[in-house]
Amino acid sequence: MTNIKIILGSTRDNRVGDKVFNFVMEEASKNPNINVEGIDLKNYNIPFFNLEMNPAYMDNPGYSGDQVKLLKKIDEADGFIFVMPEYNHSYPGVLKNMIDTFYNEWRLKPVTFVSYGGISGGTRAVEQLRLVLIELQMVPIRSSVHIPFISAQINDNGFLKKETKEATHIDKTIEELEWWAKTLKEPRTNKLK
Ligand SMILES: Cc1cc2nc3c(=O)[nH]c(=O)nc-3n(C[C@H](O)[C@H](O)[C@H](O)COP(=O)(O)O)c2cc1C
Repeated sequence: MTNIKIILGSTRDNRVGDKVFNFVMEEASKNPNINVEGIDLKNYNIPFFNLEMNPAYMDNPGYSGDQVKLLKKIDEADGFIFVMPEYNHSYPGVLKNMIDTFYNEWRLKPVTFVSYGGISGGTRAVEQLRLVLIELQMVPIRSSVHIPFISAQINDNGFLKKETKEATHIDKTIEELEWWAKTLKEPRTNKLK
């Protein structure tokens, strides 16, 4: 079994992101080859980056409070799904701040994305974030899910519409992530310098 963490990268009070997150959690839980855990960044008080230097160059970056809790979650993961909106043609600052806070815990792990937004469905944000994640030695995989015009995809009960869910073919993306997570798990113990 591989451990997949689903990280919700939108924290505003009136967010749509929780609906998308719930859908992704539900679908990922159907895959028998993975252990799934959700991480809602709203539940972690991660301060604006204030480490002494880039954690890539520190054995002990001096984490405290919720940073320690989140570090443990990221460290035990074999792969990630970032659920994220597009803000001003890019990824949300809260997500970038969380990413910058860690380094070793991300390394050599695959990541995919479920993005949402207006006409672009968050694709611009995801393409930019792929470049960032390569610097952390992550493996952004080819498949990802993008949901355009997100506010029109929610039904009267506050859930993603059935036809919207089906159009994502998210099971294929999760299968691809699971393949990478499984494939990189053992070689990752032999750390690249
Ligand atoms: C500050 C801000 C900037 C936004 N910029 C974009 C954008 O560039 N492209 C886009 O497709 N949607 C944009 N949107 C619309 C969001 O994708 C949409 O409001 C979505 O619901 C935000 O996710 P959230 O509800 O989980 O916060 C923006 C929304 C906000 C709040």
